[in-house]
Amino acid sequence: MPIKISTRSTRASTCASGYVIAGVYGKKDFTPSASELNDKTSGAIESLITNNDLKSKVGSCVTLPLVDGIKAKRVIVVQLGPRTEFNQAQFNKAISGAASQLTSGNPATATVFISDITVPERSLSWVTRRVVEIFSLHLYTFDQLKKDADKTKKQWQVQIAVDSRSDLAEARDGANMGQAIAEGVNLSRDLGNLPGNICTPTYLANSAKELDTYDQLSVEVLEEEEMAELGMNSLLSVSRGSREPAKLIIMNYAGDPSGSAPIALVGKGLTFDAGGISIKPAKSMDEMKFDMCGAAGVIGAMQAIAQLQLPVNVIGAVASSENLPDGAANKPGDIVKSMAGLTIEILNTDAEGRLILCDTLTYIGRYKPQTVIDAATLTGACVVALGKHCAGLFSNNDELAAEIIKAGEMSDDRAWHMPLWDEYQAQLKSNFADMANIGGSDAGAVTAACFLARFTEEYRWAHLDIAGVAWHSGGNKGSTGRPVGLFVQYILNHLNMGG
Ligand code: BES
Ligand code: MN
Ligand code: ZN
Repeated sequence: MPIKISTRSTRASTCASGYVIAGVYGKKDFTPSASELNDKTSGAIESLITNNDLKSKVGSCVTLPLVDGIKAKRVIVVQLGPRTEFNQAQFNKAISGAASQLTSGNPATATVFISDITVPERSLSWVTRRVVEIFSLHLYTFDQLKKDADKTKKQWQVQIAVDSRSDLAEARDGANMGQAIAEGVNLSRDLGNLPGNICTPTYLANSAKELDTYDQLSVEVLEEEEMAELGMNSLLSVSRGSREPAKLIIMNYAGDPSGSAPIALVGKGLTFDAGGISIKPAKSMDEMKFDMCGAAGVIGAMQAIAQLQLPVNVIGAVASSENLPDGAANKPGDIVKSMAGLTIEILNTDAEGRLILCDTLTYIGRYKPQTVIDAATLTGACVVALGKHCAGLFSNNDELAAEIIKAGEMSDDRAWHMPLWDEYQAQLKSNFADMANIGGSDAGAVTAACFLARFTEEYRWAHLDIAGVAWHSGGNKGSTGRPVGLFVQYILNHLNMGG
């Protein structure tokens, strides 16, 4: 259930909310709302600090229940750290800290006074947007497959409060933007979290088709026969071992009537990757249901872009299949001919993402895109190289790489630039075909990107290896919704609407 967002101008002490959130810089430096709440409660926040209840770590919180003198049911006091050090990273920690305090759903409303918070180099609209996104991220639940789901669900309302009416319009803009992005992230997370037996390529295609309700967005799904006619033998070879038909989903968003060249977003959509004949070990294999998170990211971003009616043309392309072992499946040593005419020796059937992406990247060329960005849970090697904090970024254009790094920083959905040097290409040599689909044990994330680079020479292209960032493992196993935030931020920056 998405959170409800409202924007208002009000005072902290008279606001009748479930939670009022007020920040304190360090020990003494109160934001205006903290100061007002403190005054009206005969120093409740000051005594909390004197008692050392509020820790100095940014994002630490204390919840004050039912204090006399104010209308709200509870106050969350959040530590912002020293005012002089306050920046985007601290802002994130603080808002995340506050959002994670929301427990009681009675009433399930939380009010954030955003005029109190200024982040260097960021507008009020950006601050508002991120508050909405971060709250939504924390309040997300995935319980649609549990029996008692509906009984436990609370509809959260997040209020964005400003003290002066003149800020209301900008805050409202930011809140709308935040809501659209948050809903795109939620859609992406839902698709990611759904299991492989429900979220099949067909399910993914049907979910994308639902975006048809947006006027400027049309969705077309290419079936296996059409892909065969186009010569997409590499893509089709992956799905041959599966009973679920592969789908190539094309979402066409026409937001710029001047007809400018589109930006293409391409997603890897393996709804389950068992590895094929080169089968994976059993441990954590369930997590390979997340192998469609690139696709989910594209679908979520397309929804947000359409919801915001952004004046830009964007093509979303999702290649979806399963990778399973079967008598018809790819075998190590098999050679397939891609749509581009290049032949590929499949030395490891588990390196399937590049096999479905290469044909998709060729196909997308017909839209004459000005820029193509793909997102793929492509290699375990990328997780080894970078861990779970940032995506691996590879590009044939340094300017584009810089734009993506910047978008990642602004949206807290970061990527790190990795090399795509020619020297690595030699690792893809095959004795029998134009290339092998694996490059040996060194630099696995780089050689995977090098493989894709052979199919993207015609346009400005970047590849995001999101294997480390698309989902959490362990106790809070689940999809993160990345890189919806980065994608939308990239488009917003392109339109000068991002800051
Ligand atoms: N979907 C996996 C990559 C992956 C593995 C992502 C684990 C996140 C966690 C991909 O299809 C794959 O299996 N890649 C192989 C490539 C190898 C055979 C060259 C890998 O990373 O082991
Ligand atoms: Mn694989
Ligand atoms: Zn895979």
